[in-house]
Amino acid sequence: MRANGIRHFIDTNDFTKEELLDIIHLSLEIKKSIKAGYNPPLMKGKTLGMIFQQSSTRTRVSFETAMEQLGGHAQYLGPGMIQLGGHETIGDTGRVLSQMIDVVMARVIEHKSVVELASASSIPVLNAMSDYNHPTQEIGDLCTIVEHLPRGKKLEDCKVVFVGDGTQVCASLGFITTKLGMHFVHYGPEKNQLLEEHKKIMEENCKISGGTWEVTDNRESVKGADFIYTDVWYGLYENETPKEERVATFKDYQVNRDLMSLGNIGCKFMHCLPATRGEDVTDEVLDSESSIAFLEAGNRLTAMRGLLVYFTQYQREQAASELQIAAAKEQLEKFMDERHIR
Ligand code: CP
Repeated sequence: MRANGIRHFIDTNDFTKEELLDIIHLSLEIKKSIKAGYNPPLMKGKTLGMIFQQSSTRTRVSFETAMEQLGGHAQYLGPGMIQLGGHETIGDTGRVLSQMIDVVMARVIEHKSVVELASASSIPVLNAMSDYNHPTQEIGDLCTIVEHLPRGKKLEDCKVVFVGDGTQVCASLGFITTKLGMHFVHYGPEKNQLLEEHKKIMEENCKISGGTWEVTDNRESVKGADFIYTDVWYGLYENETPKEERVATFKDYQVNRDLMSLGNIGCKFMHCLPATRGEDVTDEVLDSESSIAFLEAGNRLTAMRGLLVYFTQYQREQAASELQIAAAKEQLEKFMDERHIR
């Protein structure tokens, strides 16, 4: 999404395959650099605002740590901590923050809120999960997939199967994999599958990328998976059916050893986390050598660094030149010297 001359990260579908690969590779290059001992000060002097309407472990900690590692600063703006939802709209909050900080991320209850924030902001807005999608998760997921490609395969050769509820993570995974020309399957109960609107987007993506998609309740669809992915069964939405009912709906879609055996040899298990052990995934799978779920969580940090740099540097033309900075410094020093301020 583009608003006020600014490019925002609201949905991976707003980006080309090449742009998404750029973000993924930038994220992985910064990771390598930090691992080698060099923290590039790419966010030096910059401040990130972190709006959270819901709780979070991975998203909150990874964004804040990313800013710290890159020489910047983050402000946690959690539920009840700012004038949001009272007198002030999220749009007005965006207008105010745009005067004070350099970039903002928002985890919102309703997708329209992050769209409103971006529409009103003149700084980049990063969608840190809504009820529709979770695009920052997907950059981390793709970093993890790139790092664990099956021997001899490239992204376009890989089959990714999401098992269970058609959550916002499922939709986002379908969006990014089809955009990148991969083969995506959502295997879930009929009433909880991805919707027509999701299918249309995946179809459009595949027309351009050469990828494929399938939404089905047929267990056979898991066969040949390179990556099997799942999410929790309940607790994501305010108006969902009772927990007992949802457990009964999804119990046959648990990722256990039996289901993993349908994947290719070397098939990896992924989960956006948090996981409900013994429900959506067994301990045996989550703690197995095939599981890359915790490395995937670590790559949320990898993704946040790449996204922060990409979206603040993208607006590079607005940044002051070295010459302008030097002139401003000289003028300020002259003013202070004349008034003996030191
Ligand atoms: N996967 C994910 O977004 O985790 P958090 O809710 O802990 O941020």
